[in-house]
Order: sequence, then C-alpha cells, then structure tokens
Amino acid sequence: MRILSGMRSSGRLHLGHYKGVLENWLQLQDKNECFFFVADWHGLTTEYANPSVVQDGLWDMVMDWLAVGIDPEKATIFIQSQVPEHAELHLLFSFMTPLSWLERVPTYKDQIEQLREKDLGTYGFLGYPLLQSADILIYRADAVPVGEDQVPHVELTREIARRFNHLYRQGIPPLFPEPKSLLMPASKLPGLDGRKMSKSYGNTLVLSETWKETEKKIKTMPTDPARVRRDDAGTPEKCPVWDFHQVYATEDEQAEIQQGCTSASIGCLDCKKILMQHLEAELTPIRERRIDITAHLDDVKDMVKAGNEKARREASRTMDKVRKSVKLGYKF
Ligand code: TRP
Ligand code: SF4
Repeated sequence: MRILSGMRSSGRLHLGHYKGVLENWLQLQDKNECFFFVADWHGLTTEYANPSVVQDGLWDMVMDWLAVGIDPEKATIFIQSQVPEHAELHLLFSFMTPLSWLERVPTYKDQIEQLREKDLGTYGFLGYPLLQSADILIYRADAVPVGEDQVPHVELTREIARRFNHLYRQGIPPLFPEPKSLLMPASKLPGLDGRKMSKSYGNTLVLSETWKETEKKIKTMPTDPARVRRDDAGTPEKCPVWDFHQVYATEDEQAEIQQGCTSASIGCLDCKKILMQHLEAELTPIRERRIDITAHLDDVKDMVKAGNEKARREASRTMDKVRKSVKLGYKF
C-alpha cells in the first residue's frame, strides 16, 4: 500500500505523540511505501499571524521522527511547502468543491470555538481539509493513518476524488483512488496529571529531555490522594501512575502493584520505580540517537532535501495528468 501522513510542526514531540502516532508510523514503514511530511502550510492556517512558530518547531520535530526510528531509507520524509504542486491541486479542487462540504466538516466549527483567541474566519481555514485532500490525492495514496478527529477529512477526500473522477474522467480510467483511513487507536497513555498529554497542560514527558528531567517529573507525579501516609491503602484506578503501568508494566508487575497498593505493602516511590525502569529502557536509546542527530543537522537537511525532491517528482507526475484532465495541458 502507499501510505501518506502529515503532522503540523509543533516543536519537540512528547511521549503521547510517540505512543499515539509515531509507533504506528514505525510499523507502517516496514511493509509499505510511506510518505511522511511536515504540514507547514496547515500550521499557517492557524498561525498566520506568528509564522515563526511554524518554522521554529520544524527541525526539532523532524529530528524527533528520526530519533524514534522513522527511517529515510524506508519512508520519504518531506516538507509540504517544498512541494508547491500541493497548492496547485488545492486551487483546482477549490473550483469544484461546494462550500457546504467544507462548512459541515466537524473540525471547522470545533476549532473556531476552541481557538477563540485567533480569528479563524478566513478563506484558508475553511479550506484546511481541502488542502489535506490535495496532500493525500497528489500521491494517490491508498491509506492515511489518522486519529479519530481526522477521519472526516479523509471522508471529504474520498468525496473529492469521486467528484473529480466524475467531472473529468468520464469514459477514461479514474485518476484518483479513494483513500481509506487507518484509524490509530487513541493512545492509552495520559499526561502526568491524568488528563490528556498536551503541551498546553504542562503534563508531558518530552522525548528529547534528559533522564534527570523525566525522573523528577515521575517522582513528583500525583498518585491516589488517599495515600497520604505510607501505610494508607490506595486504589490504582484513582492514580495516573497506574494508567502508565497499564501501558508499560508486565502482567506480573501489574498484579504485584494491584496487590501492593491496595494493601499498602508497597509505597508510591517503589511503585514509580517500576515505571521508571520501563521508561528509561524505552527512552534512553531514543535520546542517544537524538543527541547524535542534533549534532548532524546538516545531514538531516540533506535527507529532507532528497525527500522533497522525490515527493515532488511523484506529485508532478500526478499534476501532469490533472492538468490534462481539466484542459490545462497546454503544449508550447
Ligand atoms: N490535519 C492533520 C492534523 O492536524 C495534518 C495533515 C495535513 C495530514 N495534511 C495531512 C494528515 C494529510 C494526514 C494526511 O494532524
Ligand atoms: Fe499509584 Fe502506585 Fe501509589 Fe498505588 S502505589 S497510589 S498505583 S503510585
């Protein structure tokens, strides 16, 4: 299968991104032809007034991808704005897309509500999912790994593919396949305080932080408030550390923790030590690679440059066919 996915540049990634998205990408890159890109234009739809936000986070994010094992030998890694064909396809799609299709995409009204401090009553923001359709269809991707909130965008993409094929490919083979969503199950890992892990809540474990920083965060992580003293019994289900154990601990360890917490035979620090061993084992190799990669940013840029070129070749091939379909295939 050909797989495509994009991520808005949001700077240094945290463990929630790793468990929720990147682990899926890692699996996919082994058996499929993958294109993974930085959606910097999508970043500008909300950050148009502070464009440096998008630029500043970009290389940190790419380095995090590489550190976790996204492999440029297996996947094509590129930056959306370096393949301007996406914008041309977005424009051509905009002519044939009814406004009502965009207005009814659920993320549209949700995001305007949630990001009230920003004026998102713009032309470009309404077109956000249509630009995403262009991202996907320009590579004629078969499947798109997405979280639940993005499923309507893939659904719109299928409608756009159908409409294009119907309008411009009568009597000839369709140009665009209809991509399917590969739904990535929502990560079971919460933030350190039990809410969703998110930079805006300040409850993250940052992939590229030091082990010292991680250790301190785990040691100060809240536990079941009923365990005021060491010999107060607790309820793991009321404790965010337990949510982490459900992701990391073995079955035996989970049984031991259940028993130890509810009978007060282990203290919270002992319990956290079990978690820290698992986290250290997972994060240390990522962090070692990250330090090495950071020291070779020029190589990272060369790698992305090659990815941009490869993506662009592929996108150009589709655009030649698109232009012919809409009678813009002029010859001079
Ligand atoms: N909209 C996606 C997000 O917010 C990012 C994105 C842009 C994307 N273009 C894409 C994802 C194409 C998958 C395919 O996360
Ligand atoms: Fe949470 Fe573990 Fe303490 Fe129980 S023993 S409250 S599960 S940290």
